[in-house]
Amino acid sequence: MNDAPLLELRDVTVDFGAEPVLRIGELVLREREFLGVAGESGAGKTTTGLTVLGLTRHAGARVTGSIRLAGEELVGMPERRLRRLRGSVMALVPQNPAAAFSPVLPVGTTVLRALRLHGCTRAQARLRAAAGMERAGLPAAYLSRFPHQLSGGQLQRTAIALASALGVRLLVADEPTSSLDVTAQARICALLAELRAAHGTALLFVSHDLALLAGLCDRIAVLHGGRVAEDRPAADLVTAPRAACTRRLLAAAPRPVTGPGGGRDGGAAGA
Ligand SMILES: Nc1ncnc2c1ncn2[C@@H]1O[C@H](COP(=O)(O)OP(=O)(O)O)[C@@H](O)[C@H]1O
Ligand SMILES: [Mg+2]
Repeated sequence: MNDAPLLELRDVTVDFGAEPVLRIGELVLREREFLGVAGESGAGKTTTGLTVLGLTRHAGARVTGSIRLAGEELVGMPERRLRRLRGSVMALVPQNPAAAFSPVLPVGTTVLRALRLHGCTRAQARLRAAAGMERAGLPAAYLSRFPHQLSGGQLQRTAIALASALGVRLLVADEPTSSLDVTAQARICALLAELRAAHGTALLFVSHDLALLAGLCDRIAVLHGGRVAEDRPAADLVTAPRAACTRRLLAAAPRPVTGPGGGRDGGAAGA
């Protein structure tokens, strides 16, 4: 893969007032690349994703080092500018899609507001929202539904439809399928793969599920105690793990873990 770096973390530490909970020497995500971030509970996966989005500072974190997105330094960036990048260049696919939508508004209202906030006219926003839904395999008419009228999988696809309508280059997903059944999970993974094929969207996918990551991602970085224990092509990492924490994750997997395209009910990426 010869694409240019899209996201570069160098010597990044994150602390919440005590010892750093994250110390990342180097983590690089290239354009179009799917990078899985794995690790046991408490390893620092969520903190990594939220720090990239500039959201840990809201929780009182101190971030040092360098995080560059398309060459632009995010550490120390004014909140206004960061907010503009979230939604135009990068976006979060949340763990719980219901949290991304107001329970008292049709989902389309949330989608249209986000698009208008990022510079679309009303007419453009409507067109883009409908196109995003179609790409996500959902009828545009679902935009007039309330969150409780959609299944968890449909709501998650709506959240991804919004991100695709915004045209972001980087999606950060934190356990986006952990609340979904296996079929809905495979649909989400297929949708992410389609977004990359159509728009070159890169993905930072946080999960403790190595089988899921191996089926979807090009590379996997395994965190342990806030540090990168290993960072290698997905197929190599799951077939010949080096770090003890990776071996533990593999041993704890509910089903055998194989390389890309295999092992997960026919392979999430190809489903
Ligand atoms: N807002 C916070 N305040 C204090 N400590 C936190 C906060 N968020 C996370 N941590 C700590 O950072 C470490 C990594 O947490 P997290 O990134 O949530 O791990 P993971 O997602 O891998 O389970 C944990 O020790 C956790 O207690
Ligand atoms: Mg987490």
